[in-house]
Amino acid sequence: MSEFLGMDILHGGQFSRDQLEHIMDVAEDFRRRLETHKSLDLLRGYVMAALFFEPSTRTRLSFETAMYRLGGNVIGFSSAESTSVAKGETLADTIRTVDQYADVIAMRHPAIGSAAEAAAIAEAPVLNGGDGAGQHPTQALLDLYTIRRELGRVDGITLVLCGDLKFGRTVHSGVEIYKHYNVRLIFVAPDALKMPAEVTERLRAAGVQFEETTDLPAALKQADALYMTRIQKERFADPAEYEKLKGSYILTREMIEQINPRLVTLHPLPRVNEIATDVDSHPGAAYFRQAKNGVYTRMALLALVTGRVS
Ligand code: NCD
Repeated sequence: MSEFLGMDILHGGQFSRDQLEHIMDVAEDFRRRLETHKSLDLLRGYVMAALFFEPSTRTRLSFETAMYRLGGNVIGFSSAESTSVAKGETLADTIRTVDQYADVIAMRHPAIGSAAEAAAIAEAPVLNGGDGAGQHPTQALLDLYTIRRELGRVDGITLVLCGDLKFGRTVHSGVEIYKHYNVRLIFVAPDALKMPAEVTERLRAAGVQFEETTDLPAALKQADALYMTRIQKERFADPAEYEKLKGSYILTREMIEQINPRLVTLHPLPRVNEIATDVDSHPGAAYFRQAKNGVYTRMALLALVTGRVS
């Protein structure tokens, strides 16, 4: 698919089903190729800039790993304090500068819309690794890949999304992707952290089946997979409000065994307390495999937007 050449990856809603399937297929192909090779030559000589204005472990490191596994090079930073932003430089000027150096830009920034702003300035394709409480499309793609791999299918499943659906950008991107599949969605959140109305309105308009509840055990009974999320502490204006909500949902091994032993559990990570550590050894606990899948999925995106695969 040559339509990916030069494409900015900004929003979960930007893809067609065919494009989603193609990204998944390319990611799967890279996964297979890495079984016999440490790295490939596909992006030799290419430079990716990783501009992380907000904390990150998996997104930045898996983007960087993806680039290295493709034979490419990486420049970048992992906090704004070490850059000219600390001197008062604007995002626009930082992007205009990095665009002189890099063939592709992966970025994370606290402001909603920042990746789109960068994409409007940069000639290099921009891959949004999270814009505040907005979108996180590359995570949603690796989540889709993980569901496909863990369950063998996406169509026909019931997926429970639980936790901070208000501020969680991974779920905002995710639902835009699941709407292309015949997925039944159940949203579980405290009232204060429900899925934003503009998201549910778009889903309704697209004819997507979804339910909203506060009852996690009841939802789990019906689930093929659970997508657990962290309460997004950094988005709360009032720390007391966070304290009130942080223990809202905690998944334990006992719950899984009593309610739904075949449950597949995903989480974008980092986890705080919302999944007890005794879940980690449950065969359905997929979240660390999911983190690995981030490498294959980001390899696919990097190779597609640079036109090194089509
Ligand atoms: C998520 C994020 O940054 O939005 N993490 C990630 O990219 N894997 C989820 C989170 O921080 O809770």
